[in-house]
Amino acid sequence: MPGFLRGALLGFFGLIVGIQLIRPARTNPPVNQSHTLEAVVFVPPQIESILRRGCYDCHSDRTSWPWYSNVAPVSWFVIDHVDSGRRHVNFSEWLRLDTKNPAEYTRERFQAICRQVQTHDMPLTSYLLVHRAAKLSQDDIETICQWTRTGVVPN
Ligand code: HEC
Repeated sequence: MPGFLRGALLGFFGLIVGIQLIRPARTNPPVNQSHTLEAVVFVPPQIESILRRGCYDCHSDRTSWPWYSNVAPVSWFVIDHVDSGRRHVNFSEWLRLDTKNPAEYTRERFQAICRQVQTHDMPLTSYLLVHRAAKLSQDDIETICQWTRTGVVPN
């Protein structure tokens, strides 16, 4: 093998090993049951199951971290999605101390949830590539939207 190629390969592997040292935290903060979405509104089992399957990994404090979330640089993207997802919507910590108007907050976030699933922006495409079961059917989407609008689901 030409010397320059060997040098490049060694450099590449050195880089891959080196970046493993950069490890952003993977957190699952403890869940306070009185702060969850269920504490604020009734969540029918049908809805709970869709949210769990498609959204909880990024929008709750009960993320199941996949093995590759240990391996940089993939880990950086996964952890960033979860951190950012939780900031936008967190079903485990629906209301925070600084939520001024819980009813208004819930109404507004529910609209956003329906919008995001209708436009297929959520779940994120990159997530669906590895979590096929998270894909929502048209039925799932309509069930979510009916619930966000009326608080109930069809039988
Ligand atoms: C792989 C992680 C991931 C999954 C799974 C996921 N989301 Fe998100 N979600 C994000 C991230 C990251 C954002 C931050 C903004 C963005 O990237 O659009 C976000 C933003 C949102 C927002 C806020 C949009 C706004 O206008 O403020 C809503 C609502 C939302 N997601 C709903 C859902 C729902 C409902 C599901 C399940 C059907 C879901 N997400 C699944 C990562 C995820």
